Amino acid sequence: MRTLPLDKAFQLIEPGPVVWVTTAHKGRMNVMTMTWHMVVDFTPRLACIIGPWDFTFTALKKTRECVIAIPTADMADTAVEIGNCSGREVDKFERFGLTPRPAKRVGAPLIAECLAHIECRVADTRLVNGYGLWVLEGVHAWIEPAHRERRTLHAQGDGRFAVDGPMIDLRRKMKKL
Ligand SMILES: Cc1cc2nc3c(=O)[nH]c(=O)nc-3n(C[C@H](O)[C@H](O)[C@H](O)COP(=O)(O)O)c2cc1C
Repeated sequence: MRTLPLDKAFQLIEPGPVVWVTTAHKGRMNVMTMTWHMVVDFTPRLACIIGPWDFTFTALKKTRECVIAIPTADMADTAVEIGNCSGREVDKFERFGLTPRPAKRVGAPLIAECLAHIECRVADTRLVNGYGLWVLEGVHAWIEPAHRERRTLHAQGDGRFAVDGPMIDLRRKMKKL
């Protein structure tokens, strides 16, 4: 074995899938790419890193709601590009040809091109100042059964992405012995 630089260690457990976070604030819709997130419980509650450098941060702070949208593997280029520009300067829905659709329980939009969505409200902000960590609570979820591409993207943390591969079904083992 050799030492792995500590600043690369997170890549070993980099979560996925790559998601988009949509917000709507003061009549402006926006979308950003996010890979630093984790499931906290079945509610579902999600822990997400959305830093003060993101325009999304301001919208989330004001509105306390967003949508987690799941793009698929065929949208990889767009996912990276959306993460490399800011809603402060560009209308990303227009630039990337994304179609906003009204959500059911929050003001932030769904994205017609995405596979699935979780509408979320902010549940806890206690770690936002120290870590940019928002705890979100899902209030409605959507899946598009007709979406042809179903493979999601999983970030390696350095600009490389894994695409979902074969599924291993271990549901029969998911019980306590
Ligand atoms: C692949 C990828 C993953 C990213 N993951 C995160 C993340 O987890 N948290 C975060 O705050 N920014 C993340 N970013 C950066 C934001 O997407 C970026 O700052 C974006 O410009 C924010 O958009 P906004 O200013 O319109 O909110 C990521 C960018 C890329 C390309």
